[in-house]
Amino acid sequence: MTVEETETHVILTHPKNPQTQVSILKHGATVLSWTIKGKEQLWLSTGAKLDGSKAVRGGIPLVFPVFGKKPDVEAVKDLPQHGFARDSPWEFLGQTKEEPLTVQFGLGPENVREELLSKWSGNDFTLILTVELTEESLKTSIEIENTDSHPWDFNWLFHTYLQIDDIEDTLVSNLPGELCYDQLLKISYEEKHPVVDFHGEVDRIYQKVSDSKNIQVVALGKPLHTLKRDNLQDVVVWNPWIEKSKGMGDFLPKDGFKNMVCIEPGHVSDFKTLQPGEIWRASQLLFQDELKYQAV
Ligand code: BG6
Repeated sequence: MTVEETETHVILTHPKNPQTQVSILKHGATVLSWTIKGKEQLWLSTGAKLDGSKAVRGGIPLVFPVFGKKPDVEAVKDLPQHGFARDSPWEFLGQTKEEPLTVQFGLGPENVREELLSKWSGNDFTLILTVELTEESLKTSIEIENTDSHPWDFNWLFHTYLQIDDIEDTLVSNLPGELCYDQLLKISYEEKHPVVDFHGEVDRIYQKVSDSKNIQVVALGKPLHTLKRDNLQDVVVWNPWIEKSKGMGDFLPKDGFKNMVCIEPGHVSDFKTLQPGEIWRASQLLFQDELKYQAV
């Protein structure tokens, strides 16, 4: 069977290779695992809660309608960090294509817990997540529709946790020349380094990066992951390192930060306004590619 649904999960298996699979938890429509010929591409905490009691630590959590905490923005000031999409039970809408193998999930106000929904001024919306698996790639696409009679603002982000062998041997490429907001230092600057490397906690928002630039995660000179964006202007690069990992109860093992890096494409450096009836679409494609240095 290529698409298997259980009470809690949906599992896609590539028809040509049973070890090329994606597993999605209905809670948060969170991609938990993606293997290519048996090799895991994503990082998932062994302490992640998969019972719907909390957003998942690892995989690809979905961030909507706010990125981070925005206490100064009236419309979202009471929402929890990263909003409610990652912590709501999405509906499985079924398989929509055989080639590539494609499934969809939906989220509307009726799926969101009242105590969370009431913190977002009762706005009406429909979210459709599409997940496509090929032999070498995983694509996640989002459609956000304003089904209300007034405009509203939102952030969107795919909080993608990528699996790596050793963070200290890992670089992230193709970001020089971009405007960066460092969330730890709380300053903005132009990125001058040819690559991002990791020797401590990193939490940066690269802003308005052209979609033509693919982000590559490079391990010991070899490209491990390539991420292509469509209509996702910002790229967050995050690794919690030692202290921050200690503070997250669901982050296990505690030295798991060595084996993950988050590359999170989104629309988060400003809010996107959606008019009544308007639909906004965006996607990320994860695939294997050769090393391509895309100069400024
Ligand atoms: C990243 C943010 O996107 O998510 C970080 O840039 C944050 O600041 C991280 O710490 C994890 O957030 P959470 O809510 O999943 O612990």
